[in-house]
Amino acid sequence: MRLDKDYLLEMELWSHFEMRGLGHEDLGTKLQAPLPVRPAPVAAPAAPASRAVASPVVTKPVAGPSTAKPPPVAAKQVTADASVPVDPARLERISEADWPSLTEISANCAACTLCKQRKQVVFGVGAQSAQWLFIGEGPGAEEDQSGEPFVGQAGKLLDAMLTAVGLQRGREVYIANVVKCRPPGNRTPLPEEAAACAPLLDRQIELIRPKIIVALGRTAITRLTGSEAAMAAVRGRVHTYRNIPVIATYHPAYLLRNLPEKLKAWEDLQLAKRTFSGD
Ligand code: URA
Repeated sequence: MRLDKDYLLEMELWSHFEMRGLGHEDLGTKLQAPLPVRPAPVAAPAAPASRAVASPVVTKPVAGPSTAKPPPVAAKQVTADASVPVDPARLERISEADWPSLTEISANCAACTLCKQRKQVVFGVGAQSAQWLFIGEGPGAEEDQSGEPFVGQAGKLLDAMLTAVGLQRGREVYIANVVKCRPPGNRTPLPEEAAACAPLLDRQIELIRPKIIVALGRTAITRLTGSEAAMAAVRGRVHTYRNIPVIATYHPAYLLRNLPEKLKAWEDLQLAKRTFSGD
């Protein structure tokens, strides 16, 4: 594990350690030292989202995925929240879609009211066979404008987080969101919006077949596991979604407002790396 200044710089933690008067040589021993006393961590914005969206899930304490990609997921598992009107024809089209048709279905999607205000559908970005999948909450203003996920301030931090674990946007990583259209005012997506988008994200996961998923924030981990627990309660262990290991960590936008939590995000990414390599 690389545990040096470069690494921490990538995560913008170095200044924090310098503030604490720690030298470079201290990092190895003191990285785990308690951070300055602060109020208890605040969970990411409450997401009553997608309660019934998640497929059956297993949470286990230790990771150890095989090096092989998980087997394809049966199309039948593309489901939506039971409380959301189901259009079986749409579900079938999505469950059979290849990348071009899934992109087209998404571009024309009107399955929830978010379509009314969007400038663009933010489908996702990255290698279609990426081994790493990062899932955020939903596009913000800049993403709505550009059509690409995580291009604003939170996106810059996400890029730094990727670099910190040796990944690079557009290469071995795919980045997507729970919802593909911007919620007004950047609010948390409603459960029915997450549910309406669920088949699209599920199909992306089926097509990508990532070896690991990193859930960025509570909306994403709720979507994948059904758990509405605070991030502090769900991070630090390996969940699974359709046999794919899932690591939960703080959303970059939350980290921008809560500097010391970056250390926890860094730990989460280390767990993701270990899980990825089966250590
Ligand atoms: N926040 C997200 O969750 N997703 C984005 O694409 C941008 C900001």
